[in-house]
Amino acid sequence: MSPEPTESALLADTPVDAFESSLVLVSNRQPYRHRHEDGEIAVDRPVGGLTAGLDPVMQQIDGTWIAWGDGDADAEVTDENDCVRVPPDDPGYTLRRVWLSDDAVDEYYYGYSNQVLWPLCHDLVGKTNFEDRFWSRYREVNEQFADAVVQQADGESVVWFQDYHLALAPSHVREALPETTLFQFWHIPWPTWDTFRVCPQRRELLDGLLANDLIGFHTERYVENFLDCVDACFESATVDADSGEVRYDGETTLVRAFPLGVDAERIGRLAEERDEAFWESFRDKYDIPEESRVAVGVDRLDYTKGIPERLDALEHLFETRPEWRERLTYVQKSTESRSDIPEYQRLQAEVDERIDRINDRFATETWQPVVRIDERLTNPELYGLYAHSDLALVTPVRDGMNLVAKEYVAAQADNDTDDGVLVLSRMTGAHGELGDTAVTIEPYDAHELADQIEEALTMPDHERERRMDALKESVLENDLDTWLASLLGTVQGLRRATDQQNEDRDRQETKS
Ligand code: G6P
Repeated sequence: MSPEPTESALLADTPVDAFESSLVLVSNRQPYRHRHEDGEIAVDRPVGGLTAGLDPVMQQIDGTWIAWGDGDADAEVTDENDCVRVPPDDPGYTLRRVWLSDDAVDEYYYGYSNQVLWPLCHDLVGKTNFEDRFWSRYREVNEQFADAVVQQADGESVVWFQDYHLALAPSHVREALPETTLFQFWHIPWPTWDTFRVCPQRRELLDGLLANDLIGFHTERYVENFLDCVDACFESATVDADSGEVRYDGETTLVRAFPLGVDAERIGRLAEERDEAFWESFRDKYDIPEESRVAVGVDRLDYTKGIPERLDALEHLFETRPEWRERLTYVQKSTESRSDIPEYQRLQAEVDERIDRINDRFATETWQPVVRIDERLTNPELYGLYAHSDLALVTPVRDGMNLVAKEYVAAQADNDTDDGVLVLSRMTGAHGELGDTAVTIEPYDAHELADQIEEALTMPDHERERRMDALKESVLENDLDTWLASLLGTVQGLRRATDQQNEDRDRQETKS
């Protein structure tokens, strides 16, 4: 484990191409999945920013990515070490798959990860389900991931754990590989101590995470919450809130905020190169009248995203301000998610029921107020939809960051369509960076949200442009590359400090 880092070692950003260590990345979701389709093996990629954003990094560094092999043809393409080179068309790195039984998926993924840690960290304690079997399996699967890491890494590697599925794996790896640099990025919020303390396994979780040399969160608030939890949980820990350093069990862990960004330049370019024919046929297909403004919401179907609350606000708007009927169409693009969990099934039913009700109440012969699209859109299609939408409604009740907000802004980059307005919940991590110039909303207040949607729709042009210019500047400046460079720079600094310490020790030993 690293010695105390020096500040200067941590300040230098390291772009991906200057990263010098061998990298092992570990996540629950894999970047490529092989599955059977029409008698052949096809490859698909999961929806979601995390894997898509990290795949180019791995291609550049040529490291090893360890993840759950959840495709029905995954085992057919891996070698005797469970590895396959990816991307399939132009291999650039190794994907090592971890095999999970159905019970393990049920208890570790659907259970502890998504019925305990997910709701707990999003401050929704009422949705937690602390079953003992979930915890036992979470421990077991974390050990399984750790074993795979130990086979792939050595004392000089850097191991990068992603997210809440793997809170315990770092301590297992640390036992086997004391010299390896370990770091973890927690992609979801970290709750306050008042919330976290309800978790029966709070000590074990923190103990697992503190085996990392570095832990990253999206915002300073989550860093503060985490440090408070460590302070409250372990009498023996020393927490320095100013430097973000924790001394625990004889070792030091640095805890820092690294706000994740998007590849803004690429999104802007794809939005500009969009195929206008797609937009025309989209309008045709869904009967969106020429004179109607368009608001868009793009979400994984998750109860943290505030979708029913958003639909309530739209219903209230159409009910109390009939002049917006036929003049505003809301496009809800949803991706089904974690459907084996009852809370998610309930959410899906709630969303369907609300959409049907709004359409039943207000649709006319030539217009429907809510258009729901479940089909997959290509990136240029999605960014084209953003570019043509007058508003984005990003209204989660709680969200670690929310990259849709940033993607929407990045897609407003061209001159042919008017800039849109970003309506953004105060409860997102992104609000810390974008809240000053977005239209800020409180997600549970449907009446106020309806007012704000109207305000956004009637915003004078110069105000709309002023706000979007400021948003674009922020999103371009704090993009994916900035995030990577500062994270990798910090971890590289820690790695160098360990190497230096080892060299000094060896020198001492030779002298004596
Ligand atoms: C969130 C999590 C990711 C996760 C993604 C999709 O963004 O932070 O770790 O991969 O949701 O969820 P899923 O359960 O399908 O992987």
